[in-house]
Amino acid sequence: MGNALCLFRPMSEADIPQVYAIDHESFPAESMFRPYSSYGREIRNSMAQYLVACVPSRKRTMGFRRSWLRRLLTAGPLHLSRPAMPQELVVGFAGFWVMLDEAHIIAIAVRKPFRRQGIGEGLLLSVITLATKLKARTITLEVRASNQAAQQMYLKHGFHIVGTRPRYYSDNQEDAVLMSIPDLGAPGFHRQFTQRRDVLLRRDFLAHPIEVHEDALDEVPR
Ligand SMILES: CC(C)(COP(=O)(O)OP(=O)(O)OC[C@H]1O[C@@H](n2cnc3c(N)ncnc32)[C@H](O)[C@@H]1OP(=O)(O)O)[C@@H](O)C(=O)NCCC(=O)NCCS
Repeated sequence: MGNALCLFRPMSEADIPQVYAIDHESFPAESMFRPYSSYGREIRNSMAQYLVACVPSRKRTMGFRRSWLRRLLTAGPLHLSRPAMPQELVVGFAGFWVMLDEAHIIAIAVRKPFRRQGIGEGLLLSVITLATKLKARTITLEVRASNQAAQQMYLKHGFHIVGTRPRYYSDNQEDAVLMSIPDLGAPGFHRQFTQRRDVLLRRDFLAHPIEVHEDALDEVPR
């Protein structure tokens, strides 16, 4: 077991094999609706935004102290795409669509062995930051009624439960819980979001060591 720095950046074509694996591990029931080819279409879709969290190679870790989110938060351009480094392990991803003034979260997922280390939270804060920059006023999502982990994460970051869609999921007829941040510009939300983001940046989460099993890096496709 060792440590590695977790970084956030826009998803690129080279990330698709790893994102596909995380998506299918995290959402097995939905996987039949997401063929491999759909990921390429998604990242080329101008309404869609996809981000990844990744653990770089040791060499890159030493030299790369400023995360994409930190640059985004300070002044950086919106689309800082750069190709995936050959030895990056993608540990999580998030995707959302922006339609008019609404951002709708499609998915947030973290590789199982990397959960409970704040990566989901880092992805969600990246999504909120980017959606705000893209002039969204609200963020919405659906989550399975049984998915307490995700609901707790969303509640922690200012989402409210606004309704349910009965029997929304066709695999087991489970209800969807609808959650939303109704007004990203509301002073109360903005103040709390800024505080949470500052805590994250203060503890330098975005260049913060997370635990990585040595052999996890062997999974990186070359
Ligand atoms: C939901 C998910 C993305 C969370 O990722 P993660 O990196 O483990 O989450 P974090 O470590 O950032 O945790 C953030 C908060 O989420 C909540 N949370 C995460 N996992 C939890 C769990 N197993 N039980 C209860 N709360 C949990 C907590 O509020 C946590 O804050 P805390 O650490 O202060 O208690 C991850 O569990 C996952 O990939 N699940 C499968 C895919 C999925 O369900 N996505 C959401 C669909 S809408």
